Formats: sequence, structure tokens, C-alpha cells
Amino acid sequence: MTTYDELKKKLEAIIDPGFNKPLGEVKGIRKLVVGPTGVVELEVDLKDLKTNEQKVKIEIVKLVKVELGFPGIKVQFSESVFVPEGEKPIRYLAVASGKGGVGKSTVTANLAQALIRQGKKVGIIDADVYGASIPHVLKLEIKPLSSTADEKMIPLQKDGIEVVSTEFFMPPEKPLMWRGPMLGKMLVHFFGGVKWQDDIDLILIDLPPGTGDVALDVKTYVPLSKVMVVTTPHENASAIAIKAGYGAQHIGHEVIGVVENMSYYLNTCNNTRDYIFGEGGGPLVAKKLGVPLLGQIPIARPLSKGYIFEGNEPVGKIYDALAKSVLVAMAIE
Ligand SMILES: Nc1ncnc2c1ncn2[C@@H]1O[C@H](COP(=O)(O)OP(=O)(O)O)[C@@H](O)[C@H]1O
Ligand SMILES: [Mg+2]
Repeated sequence: MTTYDELKKKLEAIIDPGFNKPLGEVKGIRKLVVGPTGVVELEVDLKDLKTNEQKVKIEIVKLVKVELGFPGIKVQFSESVFVPEGEKPIRYLAVASGKGGVGKSTVTANLAQALIRQGKKVGIIDADVYGASIPHVLKLEIKPLSSTADEKMIPLQKDGIEVVSTEFFMPPEKPLMWRGPMLGKMLVHFFGGVKWQDDIDLILIDLPPGTGDVALDVKTYVPLSKVMVVTTPHENASAIAIKAGYGAQHIGHEVIGVVENMSYYLNTCNNTRDYIFGEGGGPLVAKKLGVPLLGQIPIARPLSKGYIFEGNEPVGKIYDALAKSVLVAMAIE
């Protein structure tokens, strides 16, 4: 008869290919119970779950049933959140909104640029599959992608911001004709199959509007991702932003705060603020979710022709303040 301790020892010796280290060393065995009938119940955490789950599952089943002779096994896998000593964890911040058109992508791209101004290394996953616009907002030129020897995708780059986008895989000016499963596969690849620059500090995820499959994929594949909610002051936007925020909290994400975009128009003729879309949406969403209002971005155009505000413009300074708050909330030094 195999004892519990022998079983545990053998399971812990199985290699997690994502870390290339034994499960025991990377805290990969979360739960191990042998039931009264001898059925083994296991919960295993793996790095790069999508790639490695099948292979490790076969190995575990062979060990437990064939080699050690247990009558049955139930095993559940999750993405590992273990960080080896001396290694920096990659931090993710998903940017969510209820509605489209509230400026989620504009805010994401400008936040990324402001983080670069703070000296940070930043990437963006453009996960808004039906409205991928990060390359457009950054005016990033789309070139054929290359990959590493182990088939990790190398992001494209604009002004120091690394980007992966579904847009890179679309024929130009053609509508999206892909079906859900293919898109899902691509997004999962974005969450585990990208070779970001070394020591990257933060990866922003531009989520599709609303709550949905992609938000759940984030929970599965980037379990420690935090979430920031973007809304406008208008109640149509804020009502749905609250739902998106509740949804994120419900599945266990920490919402770090709310950004209100298009808060007001600064009328330079008399230096007053015109509240074109009304007032109160951002503070309301923050209050309902029990999180801080991280910033209020006015309706404005950058001095340059593009969509990115520089650090010497008033709105660029507002983004700088937002970037600093985000760094504090994400515990990035
Ligand atoms: N603060 C702002 N002031 C003026 N225009 C803005 C502002 N934020 C976003 N926009 C514009 O609003 C439109 C929608 O923004 P976008 O970032 O694409 O929204 P979303 O990603 O939420 O769909 C774009 O044309 C963008 O340039
Ligand atoms: Mg967008």
C-alpha cells in the first residue's frame, strides 16, 4: 500500500514545465486528499496552464493510477501565482468599462505613456477583440510579428510601450469574421505566450466593454490581475460601469479605482468648466464599488496630431498624477 506521504512525495517531484521545477518547489500541490474509497483528489497550480495542463495531467494520472494503483483520481488545475525567489512578478491591470466609447482605450494608452514618463517598463494587451484600437490610438505601425525560439510572440513597440493586439492578426479594413473560440485562443496566448521585455513593471489589459468571457479568461489565466474602471460622468455610462466593477469584484479581482473620462470641457474663453456630460458619474461608481476615484480627465485634444498627451500639457500632468496613483495601488516602486 502506498502511504499518503509517499504519494505526496512523488507528486511533488513532478516537474511544472512552466517553471521547469518540481511542483513541490513551486508550491504547485494546493490540495491532496485521499478519500475513504482510495480516490485521490488533487488541486494543482501550473505556470502557463494552457500550454502545460494536458501533459502534466497525463503524467499525474499515470503515476497515481498505473504506477501506484489508486482506484481513481480527480484533479483540478489552476494557473500558478507562485513567484520564484529573486524574480519580479509581472503585474497586470485590466481596464474595464461598462459601455464602449467612454475612452477606455484612450485612457489606457495615455496611462501607459504617463507610466513611461515615470520611468516604468510598460506593455499593453489589446484584448478588446471587436474594437481593437490601441495600435490606432498610439499610431503604431503594424508589422509582421516575430517570435522567440520557444514560440513566444514578440510584441510591437511604440515610444517604449510594448503592444500585442488582435488587430495585428486582422486583414486591414476588413470586418472581424472570427468566431468566439478562435478569439478566445488568441487572447489566452496573449496572457501566457508573449515575450515581454525583461523586468517589465506593468501590463495594462484593454478589456472589451461590459462583463463577459474575456473578463473570466483574465481571472483564469491572470488570477492576480487588478482592475481599473473607466466611466464618463453620464449616468448611462456610470450605471453600466458599476455592473462591470461589481462583476470584477464578484469573481475575485481587486478593483483599484475609477477614472472618470470626459469629465468637463475647460472653456478657455472665461476659464470655466462646462460639464457637457453632466456630473457625478465617476464619484458614484467609486462610491458604489468602495474604491477611490483615481482621476478626472477633461474633454480635450492633445497638442500633437495624435491622441497622446505629453508631460508638459495640462492633461498630460493629470495623467502623470493618475500614473503615480496606479503605481501606489499596484505596489510598484
Ligand atoms: N477625454 C477626451 N476628450 C476628447 N475626446 C476623447 C476623450 N477620451 C476619448 N475621446 C475620444 O472618444 C472616442 C472614443 O474613445 P475610445 O478610447 O476609443 O473609447 P473606448 O475604448 O471606451 O471605446 C475616440 O474618438 C477618442 O478620441
Ligand atoms: Mg476601445
